Amino acid sequence: MNHQFSVKNGNKFLLRKLESKDAKKILEYINIVGGETDFLLFDSKGLGLSLAQEEEILDRNFRHPNSLLIGCFIDEEVVAVANLTVKKRVRINHIASIGISVKKKYWNQGIGTEILSYFVNYSLNNRQIEIIDLRVRTDNFRAIKIYQNMGFEMVGTIPKAIKIDDEYYEHYMMIKDVS
Ligand SMILES: CC(C)(COP(=O)(O)OP(=O)(O)OC[C@H]1O[C@@H](n2cnc3c(N)ncnc32)[C@H](O)[C@@H]1OP(=O)(O)O)[C@@H](O)C(=O)NCCC(=O)NCCS
Repeated sequence: MNHQFSVKNGNKFLLRKLESKDAKKILEYINIVGGETDFLLFDSKGLGLSLAQEEEILDRNFRHPNSLLIGCFIDEEVVAVANLTVKKRVRINHIASIGISVKKKYWNQGIGTEILSYFVNYSLNNRQIEIIDLRVRTDNFRAIKIYQNMGFEMVGTIPKAIKIDDEYYEHYMMIKDVS
């Protein structure tokens, strides 16, 4: 896949699958976005992965027949990373879970919406994927907005889903039927 798009202010971006050669940039990106928001599952310390581990993850995803791990680039800068991960076990492998992050400097330009729309279209055209699911903090209004805009519905609330500095936050479980 190589998907180019432009946003309201004229900026042009490229969405493409990440490869092992991107590993160093992605580790840097993870540390940056982890420090910019409390809405992700990691902070500025990142995920604690070595370069070799990150290369292996990117390579495995690159070669996966259904799952996607993609980056959004402006020139050579990584501005967003997103995953659509199909569940492994036979009885749940009709479900794909997604996650999206965008660098703060690029919020509210339409990038999250473009990526979400790409994932939905991809899933509609993929015979195996019938449901997309995701979890989002109940106070993450910007994210909830893009999911609702794209037709995702809230199907439940998960108490104590995240704990940051001894404080708990709830998650909504949201799904979209793409069968
Ligand atoms: C959530 C996130 C992925 C959205 O990406 P984005 O590129 O900023 O999103 P877009 O520009 O496509 O759309 C933002 C929408 O939120 C709306 N919005 C902005 N601030 C808002 C607020 N405080 N309350 C409600 N809606 C808000 C915008 O109006 C826009 O909706 P519209 O298209 O209907 O006008 C991005 O902000 C991000 O990475 N945040 C931190 C990490 C995160 O929360 N990831 C999701 C975890 S589930």
